[in-house]
Amino acid sequence: MEALEAITTRRVQRAFSNQAVEPEKLNAIVDAGRHAMSAKNQQPWQFVVIRDRDTIAKLGAFCTTGKFVPEAPALIVVAKDANNQWADVDCAQAVQNMADAAWAMGLGTCWVGNFEAEQIARLLELPSGWALFTVLPFGYQNSQKPPQAKPLKPRNEVVHFERFGNHQG
Ligand SMILES: Cc1cc2nc3c(=O)[nH]c(=O)nc-3n(C[C@H](O)[C@H](O)[C@H](O)COP(=O)(O)O)c2cc1C
Repeated sequence: MEALEAITTRRVQRAFSNQAVEPEKLNAIVDAGRHAMSAKNQQPWQFVVIRDRDTIAKLGAFCTTGKFVPEAPALIVVAKDANNQWADVDCAQAVQNMADAAWAMGLGTCWVGNFEAEQIARLLELPSGWALFTVLPFGYQNSQKPPQAKPLKPRNEVVHFERFGNHQG
């Protein structure tokens, strides 16, 4: 799939088939994250790839707004440098890259925004100085629960030319 097509068709995916995700695809997804822009090129991120079912189940129980996490065949947990001013912005870009790359390869994910960070950090043995940024479940689509199209704000509500309020390009 072309990059632009992947970016504009991607949807969050909150259900997953049982099909395993190939390790090479997980590696390609992590590499897409590693290639994100970062302030001063500090790359203030770490990626923990998880395929162990027991770990996924335990970690999923700590994802308050990610009840779908335990059914995913694989997770990528993103940790941020707790002392880096731009870590949130940079990690968010890495997440977007990974979501788009996964979609281009037929996989889906959903950002999990609320979780018990300390419990997950302990489970994964995150070293001090690193904080949990997010948990991303990855997998193929569950045909019974495909991703839903989102209502996108109309173009002329958010795009302006030369001056704010001028919608004629
Ligand atoms: C910072 C952030 C946090 C999010 N947290 C959650 C979450 O905790 N649970 C969830 O189901 N979706 C979460 N989402 C997914 C959004 O609901 C989703 O991206 C949005 O509805 C637009 O849908 P789309 O990504 O398919 O275009 C989060 C997205 C972002 C960017």
